[in-house]
Amino acid sequence: MPTVLFNDVSYTVPAGSRISDLPPYKETAALPCGGHGKCGKCKVTATGNLSPLSETERESLTSDEITAGVRLACCTTVEGDCAVRLSGDRAASVIRTAGDMPEITLCPAFTAYGAAIDIGTTTLAARLYDADGALLAEASRLNPQSAYGADVISRIEAALRGEAHALAEVVRRAINELLTELSEAADIAPDSIDGAVITGNTVMLHLLTETSVEPLSHAPFAAKRLFGEVLTASELSLSTLAPRTQIYLPPCVSAFVGADITTALLASGICRGQETALLVDIGTNGEMALWHGGKLSFCSTAAGPAFEGAGISMGMGGKEGAIDRVYLVNGRLTAHVIGNTAPVGICGSGVVDAVACLLDAELLDETGYLEDGLAVIAPPVTFTQEDVRAVQLAKSAIHAGIRTLLHTAGIAPEAVATLAIAGGFGSYLGTANACKIGLLPSELRTAIRVIGNAALAGASIILLNRDLREECACYAKGAVVELSTNPVFADEYMERMLF
Ligand code: FES
Repeated sequence: MPTVLFNDVSYTVPAGSRISDLPPYKETAALPCGGHGKCGKCKVTATGNLSPLSETERESLTSDEITAGVRLACCTTVEGDCAVRLSGDRAASVIRTAGDMPEITLCPAFTAYGAAIDIGTTTLAARLYDADGALLAEASRLNPQSAYGADVISRIEAALRGEAHALAEVVRRAINELLTELSEAADIAPDSIDGAVITGNTVMLHLLTETSVEPLSHAPFAAKRLFGEVLTASELSLSTLAPRTQIYLPPCVSAFVGADITTALLASGICRGQETALLVDIGTNGEMALWHGGKLSFCSTAAGPAFEGAGISMGMGGKEGAIDRVYLVNGRLTAHVIGNTAPVGICGSGVVDAVACLLDAELLDETGYLEDGLAVIAPPVTFTQEDVRAVQLAKSAIHAGIRTLLHTAGIAPEAVATLAIAGGFGSYLGTANACKIGLLPSELRTAIRVIGNAALAGASIILLNRDLREECACYAKGAVVELSTNPVFADEYMERMLF
């Protein structure tokens, strides 16, 4: 089935779907004439494999609009992989009302305004709500701790070298800046934000609170502090807020399964159903949870930063100039570049696509041998033999982690009804190619559901209904499957290195 990148979020839809029938369009934009091609008001910008321009569109659109790729959503069908964007004001509303929040009963952890924040290893993201549950603003920025290392291990090492205070300072400053940005966007005073929830992985919450990470640095990796506690703004040096503002840090499960997973579970809703389901957050640390028979089990696996664009010779984050999609068209590699500029590097979703296309083109074999040791994706961006090896290590770690969790629970992949993919990288992932390269088990391909930044959505849910902290606390009591000494994981890891 074709993949549609709708406002940069990837959806798999049946070929022949009208753009106006796609859920993200229906949730956020109107069809003033009921989709009969009469009003010309359902404009989107769309590129890729789409139905040819219809007569109705030729009559409704100006030649400049046609040149710019403007289409009428009710007259255009998806024929293959493509990208769709709502323009102007409507695009802004898409970002603000992205449908990753289930309906919840309001019982806010604040009086006037509340903020939900996710401290990712790479990115910080935040949302501002009012007491009616309306989303007022969103903001994000790179985690400035990246200057101390790309992954949690190098941050732990930096903290142990005496940089713990500096690591806390930079992230607190960034949070203060995010809170200021949110309040400016909503035109409120920052100190009228009187409640917040801050989620993140276990290491990020340790660094934020300046808790010693020494126990996280060696076996048995027993975190002394697993949070699920309220602190004040002054304790966290969040000077933008009034000193006594209460800030809830949700519970972590273990040293390497953090509050980002417990809040993501809440947002995913998978533990509310009877069916077996998996949640996977693919980052430098692949964290995953299995819900089966009313019980949760977790594991975490060190995947390395390949899927975040780091550790790849021409890798970069998902920003302008990054190749984010690669297609094989008539036997030739074709790349899509963010911002439609000249390519300067390749980001995680592009890496997955590139490897899948190289396999399809038989330039790469199942052992990972790359013909000539180098492939040109789109000049000057190339992919090297070492890059392939980095992808093999990363994808086998994630895949083996999933299979080990399933094996430990005694179930076959076919028993999994839903595989929820959380996290920034997951939002842009071409899921068919992720299965093709063996990042995800192909038996689960039809079960995949991309749920975006679920950690932040879950933090927002707890912010808007404080009673749900209890539910999160229950999740944190699930069992942790240790992978480093697990023979099933070791075997799977070796086997999944192959493509
Ligand atoms: S909804 Fe009126 S032209 Fe598409």
